[in-house]
Amino acid sequence: MSDVARFGHGSRIPGWDDAVDLTKAPAGVPDPATTPVPPELRSEIEAAMAKYPDFRSAAIPALHAAQKLHGWCSPEALEQVACVMRLTPGYLTAVATFYDMFYMEPVGRHRIFVCTNISCSLRGADAVHDAIVDAAAGDPDFNIRSFECLGACDIAPMASIDGEYVGPLELADAERIVEDLRAGRPVLEEKNIRRRRSVDPGARRSATRDEDARA
Ligand code: FES
Repeated sequence: MSDVARFGHGSRIPGWDDAVDLTKAPAGVPDPATTPVPPELRSEIEAAMAKYPDFRSAAIPALHAAQKLHGWCSPEALEQVACVMRLTPGYLTAVATFYDMFYMEPVGRHRIFVCTNISCSLRGADAVHDAIVDAAAGDPDFNIRSFECLGACDIAPMASIDGEYVGPLELADAERIVEDLRAGRPVLEEKNIRRRRSVDPGARRSATRDEDARA
């Protein structure tokens, strides 16, 4: 299997341990008069802040909202969250760099997370991961990575593709995954658990006891 990407000091997260530039003054809380924030992002952040006794607990959902809008936790995204939450960008950077699902550098817009935890790994997930990497052939539109248990071991080996769970995967699915994403089609529709009545391919088709009784 391909190696997990490593950055400075062996970190999996780019940037978290970058040295601070001591010649710069620390960034303060952004001025609302000079920090435009898209209205829909502002509403999402304010709604998250209203849910917690301590508004800082909304940092994670607020960062998620900004990442969804900007594609990554760009300096502009962090400024906008900081402006609405009345925090410093440094505070939010400390939160974002702790979690590896926040991206501190631009990533491909299609997120393919191949589960390589034990159940999936035993059923060939590492080879599936590598086959998808090969199929994408370095296309920067794809963010392909391994992930540790996505909680759908009954369809191992599986992946989360732009938030949709698909499995069980075979090597032959790799090309199709990339083609479906490029074409803007639902990915591997017949293996998407949201579109199936049961993850068990041997399950009876009838959905209810009533249907059983009528059959
Ligand atoms: S081991 Fe892959 S979903 Fe649990």
